[in-house]
This record gives sequence, C-alpha cells and structure tokens, in this order.
Amino acid sequence: PTITYLLADGTKTDIKVDVGANVMRTAIDADIPGIVAECGGAAMCATCHVYLEPETESVFTAISDVEEEMLECVADDRQPESRLSCQLNVPAGVDRITVRLPKTQS
Ligand code: FES
Repeated sequence: PTITYLLADGTKTDIKVDVGANVMRTAIDADIPGIVAECGGAAMCATCHVYLEPETESVFTAISDVEEEMLECVADDRQPESRLSCQLNVPAGVDRITVRLPKTQS
C-alpha cells in the first residue's frame, strides 16, 4: 500500500509501505514535516494529529478512549476526521491511505 501525506502547504508525498506500517512512524522515518510525535507513539502527546481523507475514514479501527482523550488536546482544530497517527496501522486489503496534516502541532 501507499500512504499519501497532504501537507498544510499543499505539498503531497507518497510513501510505499508494508501492511501494518504505522502512519506516524512512517512520516517520522521519511522526515515528513508536520508530524512531531513527542511521546514516540504512546498516545500521550497529541502532536501526531492528522485528518483522514473521506475515502480513508472507514479503514482504521475505532478511536480508543485514550486516543479520544488526547484528541481533546490537539493544537489545530479537532474535526470528526481527526486521528492520532501513532494509533493508525495500515490494514491489509487497502491500496492507499490519505491523511492531511494540520497547520500546527503545538
Ligand atoms: Fe504522541 Fe501520537 S505520537 S500521541
């Protein structure tokens, strides 16, 4: 599968990944600007906030209570399609995941 990151400045970056790849970790490894991930993926910092594009919304597991609580703390606007990218792993059977990065993580 491919993860497409849409940056707030309009830049678009496609990264090929394996099934199970973590959306936050992939961005960090590829130096995608706009994801900070201060807590390293523990759902404790809210600086890995992304917005799921419509075709991607149904792909991931539901928001856990811990993620829900941290989503209250995101720096940019919280939207219905807001998620913490550290909690998103690419499932099997999906060709493309598209996430939009917020303007700010702090
Ligand atoms: Fe900290 Fe996702 S990396 S909440």
